[in-house]
Amino acid sequence: MTELRATAAARANIALAKYWGKADEQRNLPAVPSVSVTLAPLTTVTRVHFAPGLIEDRFLLGGRAAEPGETARVTRLLASVRQLAGLSLFAEVESDNQFPTASGLASSASGFCALAAAARAAAGLPFDRNAISALARAASVSAARSAFGGFVELPLAAAGEAEHAARPIAAPEHWPLRVVVAVTSEGRKEVGSSSGMLHTARSSPYYASWVELGPRLCAEVRAGILARDLERVGVAMEQSTFAMHASALAAAPAVIYFQPATLAAFACVRGLRERERVPVWATADAGPHVKAVCHEQHAAQVQQALAQTPGVLRTLLCEPGAGVEVS
Ligand code: DP6
Repeated sequence: MTELRATAAARANIALAKYWGKADEQRNLPAVPSVSVTLAPLTTVTRVHFAPGLIEDRFLLGGRAAEPGETARVTRLLASVRQLAGLSLFAEVESDNQFPTASGLASSASGFCALAAAARAAAGLPFDRNAISALARAASVSAARSAFGGFVELPLAAAGEAEHAARPIAAPEHWPLRVVVAVTSEGRKEVGSSSGMLHTARSSPYYASWVELGPRLCAEVRAGILARDLERVGVAMEQSTFAMHASALAAAPAVIYFQPATLAAFACVRGLRERERVPVWATADAGPHVKAVCHEQHAAQVQQALAQTPGVLRTLLCEPGAGVEVS
């Protein structure tokens, strides 16, 4: 019998137009469409081995047994692959991030995408980016976007659509932007994105406005990408960021992802733009880090300014990268 094992590599992505909130909690469908850029070199490598003799799925994250909650999400994904492939074996999963885990750098997106690709391949299912994206999306919505390289969108699901997947907008070569990540904390985030958005949906008076605004900002970011218009993308991205965080801040009790260094980094980016005339815009996800988007020729200046901002621990330089790969 052939060995039921495979390895996949997927990159993180950051949303330029944010997903925040679920249209269907059970099926994990987003309440708003989103647009992202897949980021090199932030890569997760995941190995899956469906092996006889195991009595449950085993999940090692960075060489250590993962927490039960993380293992449960992995098991759910593996269960749908087993069902699809007609397999009954449990699996051993090893996942390694080549960047800090749970530091708000979208490690769950690259992780679930790499897991979806490796699990399908290990089970003998064909390489199919749409199927990988849909499988990853069911585990974590943002993971759907890491199946594709470059600029990617995840539209709203059509009524009754079974396999809802992301789709590419433009290849990495379309626009060699740079993303400077300002890391502001090494710790794990306090409120995960899933619970943060569910709590926002249940208790924030601004959630309905956020859901109404989302599609317009998404269309704006998409059009800006196609036109390679950084200002158009940047302005809509910042509005998407702050509208998303505003909805979370108005929840009861508030969901606060910003730390002092987050605001200092935003002020740094605004200062570069207004005082130095550097075209740069920033975003933050469900964590305290700030990601600044700029042209290649300004990346060094942006990186230096952010590195000198109080509370910024270090910076990472990223660029549009490839979609998921199986080896
Ligand atoms: C703020 O994809 O982690 O990063 O579907 O519940 O797993 P679940 O949520 P997740 O949320 C990501 C939220 C975000 C914005 C984004 O990536 O679009």
